[in-house]
Amino acid sequence: MARVLVTGGTGYIGSHTVVELISAGYDVVIVDNLSNSDAEVLNGIEQIIGKRPPFEKVDCNDYAGMEQVFNKYDDICAVIHFAASKAVGESVEKPLMYYRNNIGSLITLLELMKEHGVVNIVFSSSCTVYGQPDILPVDENAPIKPALSPYGNTKQINEEIIRDTAHSDASLHATLLRYFNPIGAHPSALIGELPNGVPQNLLPFVTQTAAGIRKELKVFGDDYDTPDGSCIRDYINVIDLAKAHVVAVRRMLEKKSLEQVEVFNLGTGRGLSVLEILRTFIKVTGVNVPYQIVGRREGDIEKVWANPDKANNVLGWKAQETVEDTLLSAWRWQQRLMNKV
Ligand code: UD1
Repeated sequence: MARVLVTGGTGYIGSHTVVELISAGYDVVIVDNLSNSDAEVLNGIEQIIGKRPPFEKVDCNDYAGMEQVFNKYDDICAVIHFAASKAVGESVEKPLMYYRNNIGSLITLLELMKEHGVVNIVFSSSCTVYGQPDILPVDENAPIKPALSPYGNTKQINEEIIRDTAHSDASLHATLLRYFNPIGAHPSALIGELPNGVPQNLLPFVTQTAAGIRKELKVFGDDYDTPDGSCIRDYINVIDLAKAHVVAVRRMLEKKSLEQVEVFNLGTGRGLSVLEILRTFIKVTGVNVPYQIVGRREGDIEKVWANPDKANNVLGWKAQETVEDTLLSAWRWQQRLMNKV
């Protein structure tokens, strides 16, 4: 059976993807330096699928360490590259760390893939590459806008690195998956998002506030040009997102890609405002979330949601979960975390 190298496989999206890959019959090997995740995630994965995935604690920037992984697992046929630093604010403060981590790791991987004859890569990109799109919903042909942070820039640069490498090597196939806003957790509540410190993203902040860990949610702005004045995003269930990776890998392994580098938006096609998310969360969980409207967050995009037609029609993948079930799954995961401590 085909083995997929999953970098960042103990992280939020990575761990859910590992579960879906194994459930679909793939072998995996997880590589993660645990800089922003916990080895305990492996227990959660094991409990869900009944076996423990092979794990190598290696930094993707460590060429020699990664070479050992490629030597040890000589049946790797595709790489899904999740491993990256992803905090926008931190990237502004530590740009070099972000450029080294996020760009260096991709270069290392592409070099080793070439050396070991691995010709398929799925890259975790982001809708951040579109900035504030001129046309909504945004499709894959929308122009790439100047990045608003070093983090966002690493996604753009990495897409270019992959394109240039593919241009120079006809055997390389790549799928660039541009995620919108992943939320939720596995329905078992055995794996989910584990934010490091104070959450920067909306949903973990909402669940931690509901749990009483945070006093109140700060809603960043209610004076945007949107129906209720708060920002709009396309929130996508993390399992739906994980499943898209399985489809993308299968498509490359079955050599069905129409282009050497294929790009897909992964979103639901539906935009929801911060206040809509908040109200829906309160409604489905029955738990109050104190909040306060504060000023805008620097660098925030006013509104963005996906046109997912290409992923729907070409990949044959579609987001299935309702936002209600997704928010409930996030809450169940938060409750499980609370009971553990
Ligand atoms: C952010 C990044 C994006 C990155 C993604 C990765 C920015 C501008 N974008 O996306 O590049 O790919 O994280 O995780 O930082 N909100 C609040 N209160 C909070 C937190 C968030 O009101 O405490 C609002 C934000 O203003 C935004 C929405 O919730 O409107 C979603 O925010 P967030 O979860 O941080 O995601 P993005 O900003 O879309």
